[in-house]
Amino acid sequence: MDQDDNLNIDTKDVQHAIRIGERVWWVGHYMPDDTFQCHVYLIEHGDHSVLIDPGGYLTFKHVYKKVQEVVPFSNIRYFICQHQDPDITAALRLIDIMPDVRKDAVIVTHWRTMQLIKHYDPALPFWNIDEHNWQLDLGGGRVLKFIFTPYLHFPAAFCTFDTLSGILFSSDIFGGFTANWSLVARDQSHIENIRPFHEHYMPSREILIHGLSKLEEYPIKMIAPQHGSIIPSHLIDFMIDELKQTDCGLYALARDSTDIHRLSFLNKALKDITNVVVTHRDFWDIANELLAILRKTLPVSSAEFYAYTHNHNKECLCLMPETRFRGIITAPPVQYESMSNLNKRSWLSQNKGCYKKMPLPPEHISDVKKAIGMFLDEHVSVPVLGIVENMAWFTPAKHPEERYFLFGQGGGENLSGSFKIPLLAQIPINETICDSCDGGRLNELFNDKDVKMGFDNLLKGIVHERERLASLN
Ligand SMILES: [Fe+2]
Ligand SMILES: [Fe+2]
Repeated sequence: MDQDDNLNIDTKDVQHAIRIGERVWWVGHYMPDDTFQCHVYLIEHGDHSVLIDPGGYLTFKHVYKKVQEVVPFSNIRYFICQHQDPDITAALRLIDIMPDVRKDAVIVTHWRTMQLIKHYDPALPFWNIDEHNWQLDLGGGRVLKFIFTPYLHFPAAFCTFDTLSGILFSSDIFGGFTANWSLVARDQSHIENIRPFHEHYMPSREILIHGLSKLEEYPIKMIAPQHGSIIPSHLIDFMIDELKQTDCGLYALARDSTDIHRLSFLNKALKDITNVVVTHRDFWDIANELLAILRKTLPVSSAEFYAYTHNHNKECLCLMPETRFRGIITAPPVQYESMSNLNKRSWLSQNKGCYKKMPLPPEHISDVKKAIGMFLDEHVSVPVLGIVENMAWFTPAKHPEERYFLFGQGGGENLSGSFKIPLLAQIPINETICDSCDGGRLNELFNDKDVKMGFDNLLKGIVHERERLASLN
């Protein structure tokens, strides 16, 4: 962006100070490949000029140069430190040794912050906001109002509102992680940079709402945070509303994961899932909404839902699109069994604190399970005589003693055990079956003894099961 039409901020050259409001300048330093851009702001007010959140060792020489583009550094009377983090205050030691620092310059902060900054042993004295009625009158109709925003993210954190320009200097609040940085937020999508920052740095949603509510009491025209991008007027309400919905303190759950955006995404997905469950009654709607959430991350074509029944832990209730989400009793799929039997400790030890894809059974097994479940459903109630495992193994015609289990071994037996349905037959595959069938020579099928045995068993099994069922009726 070269020019923000709404703000009239010329952002094309971040190597120089950039005017963002009435006698207010961005004098920060852009660090390439840093998602944690740190900003410094200058209020030019003659020999009562103000530098807000001065910065650290990495950036100060650039900040100093940019300040000098606007006012002599010796004009700065107030160095506001809205909390004590090194990216805000480490430069104080450099400021001490600048030859042109004012003799009457002060560090403006909260007494609790002072207790930590004093360990830099700065030469400049402290001017504590809590001893000055939480405001600094610069004269000429310009008053800086200090707004207490405790625990966001330091117990004594505060923001600064400039009554003349209407700019809120919000320190870490409204900060963001920006991979593709712009000085001014382009549109509402910037919330995706802000949200993970707050999820990790702010302790809780309740505390964040408390601080935001205090900020809303001021007629803010622009927000200038210490990280991320400046929030122009037309995006302020949107960002505040979104942040009020943001669950913070996420890092408390993530000891072993440092992928901030992934954790943020999971947090958002969890919240979306909760919203779906509490705002819909019809399971058809719930299922479709959940599928939409899954599709934001995974190439999911459909979703099935399973839960163990109370009366038999080898049975579970399955809800799936094929049955219009009417619950049917079925055997649990392999991946459901392997997950549902884990307690949290064993889940974490197996997955090292991360989620991973569970191995899926062959697609045809999954489809067979669905089909059996549907036929056995009390509303459908079609008897299933047994299971036939087709292509159970491959035997080369030239090596009739060999068996290759191309699609895995034991699938038919496992299915039989799960559903308590007999395995009627296993029919192997070999090169000649295709030729024989395509040529209409079905009698040749039975030249292979294993194929013949498979069909014999199938025939006998069908007859036996039909007789057994008839005897039950
Ligand atoms: Fe901070
Ligand atoms: Fe910060």
